[in-house]
Amino acid sequence: MTRTLLVTGGAGFIGSNFVHLVLAERPDWKVVNLDALTYAGNLENLTEAESNPNYVFLHGDITVASDVDAAFAKCASIGGDVSVVHFAAESHVDRSIESGLPFVQANVLGTQVLLDASRKHGVARFCHVSTDEVYGSLGKTGFFTEETPLAPNSPYAASKTASDLFVRAAVHTHGFPAVITRCSNNYGPYQFPEKLIPLMIANASEDKDLPVYGDGMNVRDWLYVQDHCEAILRVLEAGKDGEVYNIGGNNEYPNIDIVRLILEHLGKPESLIRFVKDRPGHDQRYAIDAAKIKNELGWEPRFTFERALPETIAWYQAQPLWMERVRSGAYREYYQRQYGS
Ligand code: NAD
Ligand code: DAU
Repeated sequence: MTRTLLVTGGAGFIGSNFVHLVLAERPDWKVVNLDALTYAGNLENLTEAESNPNYVFLHGDITVASDVDAAFAKCASIGGDVSVVHFAAESHVDRSIESGLPFVQANVLGTQVLLDASRKHGVARFCHVSTDEVYGSLGKTGFFTEETPLAPNSPYAASKTASDLFVRAAVHTHGFPAVITRCSNNYGPYQFPEKLIPLMIANASEDKDLPVYGDGMNVRDWLYVQDHCEAILRVLEAGKDGEVYNIGGNNEYPNIDIVRLILEHLGKPESLIRFVKDRPGHDQRYAIDAAKIKNELGWEPRFTFERALPETIAWYQAQPLWMERVRSGAYREYYQRQYGS
């Protein structure tokens, strides 16, 4: 039977990479992409998908029940089992520190609207794409497992945690067929250049200062976006209802090392590094224990940092127009507020 996927937030960074993966790897599936096209949603990420008869884009907001119902009506008209892969969210920690309300709106309210509609329309499976930030921060040692207590520190992380708990409640109360994934930091093509890696590539390419928060010793566990998308596909197809799966690459770096690697690849001087005021409540370290998804579902990352980081840098360098267009308008105003002139 044909499987129809309702993807939310498919015009964003990870969502668009996931849409490309599914269209390439599952040629008998149909993909309906529901996206509100916020500042982070960009249809240019999906230019190649537009001519694919298995792909449909719907402009709509997950917080608006009628938009979500319209997306399910589209799925029903296509036929087959309908499953949901839920990416849509406000995703940037610094923006959530500026203002938490849009995060409650999109991430908490939006998820509940989507859950209600998904139950009403009887989905086969609901994959909720969450984050390791729900576990809070680690010291120098240890890893996040699926049993690590939830302890979100930023408004973004709190909103994602709340959304996870609403998914959990739907499973417990209604026997809803949901799975939750919690991944570490992604990098790769189509990432909005407000996040560390594309921001540093963009600034270094233009010989602008590279703003490093605090002492640059905060650690993140980096995973190539295609590995994340492959893991989500694996969980969607083989995960067990009600389970949480951590996803990570066992690839920890302090931020300053990432920034130096980018400068080295671009042949730019370290004098571009500028240490700036720290992020309030800045989580010190994230590190994922991905043993469960490896042992139970057989997923492991395929891309090494040594190969995928240079490829990512090359991708951004080859896309000056994409970079120019995503950084126009609203993003420039945000950049001024965050970093000053
Ligand atoms: P992104 O900000 O690049 O994209 C978010 C997408 O959601 C955009 O296309 C936007 O237009 C859309 N969207 C936002 N609000 C919406 C709404 N109300 N209705 C419909 N669409 C809406 O985000 P991303 O980095 O691709 O992250 C995708 C998901 O993965 C998020 O849920 C995030 O929490 C999670 N995640 C991200 C990372 C990471 O490193 N980027 C890691 C782990 C988990
Ligand atoms: O861990 C998964 C999470 O990773 C996702 O859930 C989030 O959606 C995603 O944005 C990301 O959150 P981070 O806050 O870790 O990512 P960001 O790229 O914003 O920052 C990475 C690190 O780099 C962090 O320690 C802060 C630092 N940083 C970031 C920026 C934007 C700087 O030093 N300077 C900067 O200008």
